[in-house]
Amino acid sequence: MTVTVSNSEASRGAATVTPVFTDKTGAVIAPTGLSAAVMAKRGFLGKPGQTLVVPGPTTRIFVGLGDASSVTTDQLRGASGAACRAAWNESALSIDLLDGLKKVDKQAAAQAIVEGVMCSTYQYSGKPQPNRCALTEVSVGPVGVRAVREGIRLGTASGEAIVLARELVNLPAADLTPAKFADRAIALAVEKGFSIEVWDEDRCRTERLGGLLGVAQGGLEPPRLLRFEWSPTSVGATATKKEKAALPLLAVVGKGITFDSGGLSLKTGEGMMTMKQDMAGAAATLALFTTLAELKPNCRVIGFACLSENLPGERATKPGDVHRARNGKTFEILNTDAEGRLVLADGLSLAVEEKPDAVINLATLTGAIVTALGKEITGLFSNHEGFTAQVKAASKLAGEPMWEMPVYAPYRKHIDSEVADMKNIGLPGQAGSIAAALFLKEFVGSTPWVHLDIAGTAWADSQSDLGPRGGTGAGVRTLMELAKAFSRP
Ligand code: BES
Ligand code: MN
Ligand code: ZN
Repeated sequence: MTVTVSNSEASRGAATVTPVFTDKTGAVIAPTGLSAAVMAKRGFLGKPGQTLVVPGPTTRIFVGLGDASSVTTDQLRGASGAACRAAWNESALSIDLLDGLKKVDKQAAAQAIVEGVMCSTYQYSGKPQPNRCALTEVSVGPVGVRAVREGIRLGTASGEAIVLARELVNLPAADLTPAKFADRAIALAVEKGFSIEVWDEDRCRTERLGGLLGVAQGGLEPPRLLRFEWSPTSVGATATKKEKAALPLLAVVGKGITFDSGGLSLKTGEGMMTMKQDMAGAAATLALFTTLAELKPNCRVIGFACLSENLPGERATKPGDVHRARNGKTFEILNTDAEGRLVLADGLSLAVEEKPDAVINLATLTGAIVTALGKEITGLFSNHEGFTAQVKAASKLAGEPMWEMPVYAPYRKHIDSEVADMKNIGLPGQAGSIAAALFLKEFVGSTPWVHLDIAGTAWADSQSDLGPRGGTGAGVRTLMELAKAFSRP
């Protein structure tokens, strides 16, 4: 069961969420109905995200928002999430956090609040939860405000997309093979209104996807290459080639390793415990397409999901083997655990063949990015300043922290190979994430490109106000903002 969020008057008896602000000195301003003494006794300081529950005929939940003059949409998302966690056992909740806020954009604020609701109450559906969240009906106010209604519509679309990406990541690899991922994508394409093409193993062979096939050959599950497309004019199915060509074109490519054992360069038991997450880039890509019919950006968006398992079967790629990618370049595979870049080589080659204005890829690519940036910051690599600025702006609006890393050309020598155009690993212990980015760069030509390494951010090790341990849906909101930015006015 999921929560429905509406802009209608809350049902009788619904618990209420009220914001609490602090003044210039940082001291809490007592809201009506809550005495300073009670707040002090309960240690409630009105700090962003702090909650105070006051039981009664209707439960009242107070949530801190800090200084009213500097509240951000990120804080609203977090406060909304914290409030829902505090309201875990209530069935109906009325949230009005916009009262007293002048500077925030009402639509963006309402969207963030809904995202907070949907993210904080998400629970993996595959197991009956012992402490299931009771919330079913949430009303976000003020009621009757058009911008708020619009924010709720978009927040619901993005909340659902994030939840979808999380759910796909959380599914055991046995329940989400490349073929099963493709089946779900087909169903979603029909339901949400975008087009999809599915290439099976034979088609991947005739299309010369040597990177994807090379990874897949170690396992029994055949790979899939998915291509998604959304275009505003094709919704009416009447768009001509010329009409389509006049629109900006954004391409998105996702790493979709449904399980990464490392292949013959086998990971440790511990190292592969959470490797069902290795398709998070493909999940975010698919999740984006589920939102586009709601978002309606005036641009075309194409997407590619490169789906395979990485297993050490008898046919598996051996260290020293050489494979050829779609664009003709060859690589020597010296570590079969550096497989993400191999499947992306084909996905990126296909994407740039369609001459997009820009291509962005998302991948749980390197452990080294976790060492560099930790679990909350996505690594951003690029060959183009203008597109980098666009993606950074999108990530800022989305509230998904990213940090630009260098695609340092002199390190290209780290991936020089004696037998192929490049090898798939750099120097031991040195700039592993950059070596991976330099590898990917070989497949985008001169197309403006951004690579997001989400190896740290796609999976949460512990629960937070915005969700449980497990898949996070990293990248989904940034992609949505990017699609909006590509929209031609
Ligand atoms: N999927 C992993 C990267 C990863 C690590 C994702 C931790 C999420 C959390 C990737 O395929 C991988 O194994 N990378 C290797 C590359 C190395 C062999 C050059 C790594 O990071 O160790
Ligand atoms: Mn790997
Ligand atoms: Zn991997």
